[in-house]
Amino acid sequence: MKRLKVALLSGGISSEREVSIKSGNQVYEALDRAQYNVIRYDPAVDLGKLVADASSIDVAFIVLHGPYGEDGTVQGLLDLLRIPYQGSGVLGSALAMDKWTSKRLYKEAGLPVPPFKVLSTGQSYDAKALASEPGFPLIVKPRYGGSSIGTNIVHTMEGLPDALDMAFEYGPDVILEAYVEGTEITGGVLGNDDLQLLPIVEIIPEAGYTFFDYGAKYREGATREICPALINKAFSDIAQSCAATAHRALCCFGYSRTDMIIHNETVYVLETNTIPGMTPVSLFPLAARTAGISFSQLLDRLIELALENRHDYPNEPGPKRPI
Ligand SMILES: Nc1ncnc2c1ncn2[C@@H]1O[C@H](COP(=O)(O)OP(=O)(O)O)[C@@H](O)[C@H]1O
Ligand SMILES: [Mg+2]
Repeated sequence: MKRLKVALLSGGISSEREVSIKSGNQVYEALDRAQYNVIRYDPAVDLGKLVADASSIDVAFIVLHGPYGEDGTVQGLLDLLRIPYQGSGVLGSALAMDKWTSKRLYKEAGLPVPPFKVLSTGQSYDAKALASEPGFPLIVKPRYGGSSIGTNIVHTMEGLPDALDMAFEYGPDVILEAYVEGTEITGGVLGNDDLQLLPIVEIIPEAGYTFFDYGAKYREGATREICPALINKAFSDIAQSCAATAHRALCCFGYSRTDMIIHNETVYVLETNTIPGMTPVSLFPLAARTAGISFSQLLDRLIELALENRHDYPNEPGPKRPI
């Protein structure tokens, strides 16, 4: 059987470059060499080479997080090059990267979201009004971003200017969102037309972390990730269905992972990741493993789904031809 030529894309130019390189190394190790001939590309330096090699590439595996990788830009380039790739297309990737637009679509789909406001660079704000709606404590986060970079919890009005400065470092708009105290969970879905709902993962940062910040995410042992989650079945069923609704509301394909918090009786949706972390110990692979899908089987499945080439785009570009 002919081996598929896989372009593995990792690195890139976002603030999540280091995370992407780590995930990329793990994916590189785990891809089955009997099936795949894997060539690595770092979009920070290798875009020209990718374009030049396009006609010989069978499929791309994108392990890029954040803007210029997870947001539809690289997906658009691959569409132009007629290279299929795993996960969401241009539209789903762009929608999920935009936390503001995502929230509006979640609401339209009937998903509960924490109360929020959006501020743009230079826009004045009334701290007193914010104190009553959304109210303190607040989570301040960049509109486009990930890995909790530029995200802070603010307990009082005095803490707001610094948190805003940090978030504005990552783009012109910032989300101020009511802090929801509760059980943090995440839900993965896998599939194109038929979605497989993966078991919910519960996330418990060690004492000392007030939320799932960058350190809690990536420092070894800083967080307990429990799958299946310890929550009762009724909540995990609701959370799985929220993850599927969020995936569809944002026009995602292939797979995604939606972060949620359970507070009292409500499952609040925070955000959806279209290229979730991809080390074997990351949350999506953990959920897949709990469902009986090993890390390398998961990679096989994502490539299989990629080759179905289904992004619901009106004019599918058709067969590959020389550029
Ligand atoms: N409204 C909120 N209430 C409580 N914690 C939050 C809220 N929004 C974000 N967080 C915390 O911040 C983390 C990162 O926020 P999230 O919206 O998932 O963005 P990203 O993971 O893309 O940086 C979450 O995992 C959670 O721990
Ligand atoms: Mg998140």
